[in-house]
Amino acid sequence: MFDDVRLGHSVDVHGIRPLVQGITDSVRRNPGAIVSLARLKNADEYTYMHSVAVCAMMVGLAKQLKLDEDQTYSAGLAGLLHDLGKAHIPAEILSKPGKLTEQEAAIMRNHAVEGFEMLLGSDDADPIALDVCLHHHEKWNGEGYPMGHKGKEISLSSKMAAVCDVYDAITSDRCYKSAWDPAEAMRMMAKWSSGHFDPRVFQAFVKGIGIYPVGSLVQLTSGRIGVVIEQGSRSLTTPKVNVFYSTRLNMRIMPIIVDLSAPSVMERISNLEDPKKSKFKDINQLWSGTAGI
Ligand SMILES: [Fe+2]
Repeated sequence: MFDDVRLGHSVDVHGIRPLVQGITDSVRRNPGAIVSLARLKNADEYTYMHSVAVCAMMVGLAKQLKLDEDQTYSAGLAGLLHDLGKAHIPAEILSKPGKLTEQEAAIMRNHAVEGFEMLLGSDDADPIALDVCLHHHEKWNGEGYPMGHKGKEISLSSKMAAVCDVYDAITSDRCYKSAWDPAEAMRMMAKWSSGHFDPRVFQAFVKGIGIYPVGSLVQLTSGRIGVVIEQGSRSLTTPKVNVFYSTRLNMRIMPIIVDLSAPSVMERISNLEDPKKSKFKDINQLWSGTAGI
């Protein structure tokens, strides 16, 4: 689709219906996979993978906000298409390692209007996808672009896209910065939330992704350290944790999955570990369950 747009063809919205449907089904089957998807990107495919991840998060968020089937589909479609305008941004700006000049930043910001116009040129453009293409960089306090809309002037779908877009961007490795771990990302977003995001939408997002999203490195009250592998069924603070280290013994232990929401489990999360400072280099494997014992 991105290649088509780059070549000047119009967007085939019908053709991507099965993709959005497939992503929707997979989010329903495995909500925890959204966070993993947010990390699975490499530089070449960044915009594509970012679009797929935002699509999945939009579907998850639509579910949290109890939107109906059609609205959920439109939200997912909008997530997939929101950065379409980047297909027209020169690669040297898109993947520039350093800070953009003011002129380059202006070209970059233009992707919102470009995406909107491209989609307008396709037959049967979804009104929600059009709105999200144009407004996903608007901020709750009016300091976003391209229109500087604020609060209720921004549609629900664009406010949803703003949250999903920022989460995915800051948890991704980019040419100019390394990824933040999921829990750190949630903490920072909570700090920004009053100015950038609609509080109701942000709260629903936190409920879906968790305070300790999949991939967070946590220490339990027993002194054991583990990686969050799944959200808890009952509360945001009781996820399933793959425990693999004992601070009391000061050594690795046989990995074991502890479900903090199970009535028999008395342990709780005592604090969050910083993966950048930790000595564990295999967090990603432990998290996806493929660690060697
Ligand atoms: Fe964007």
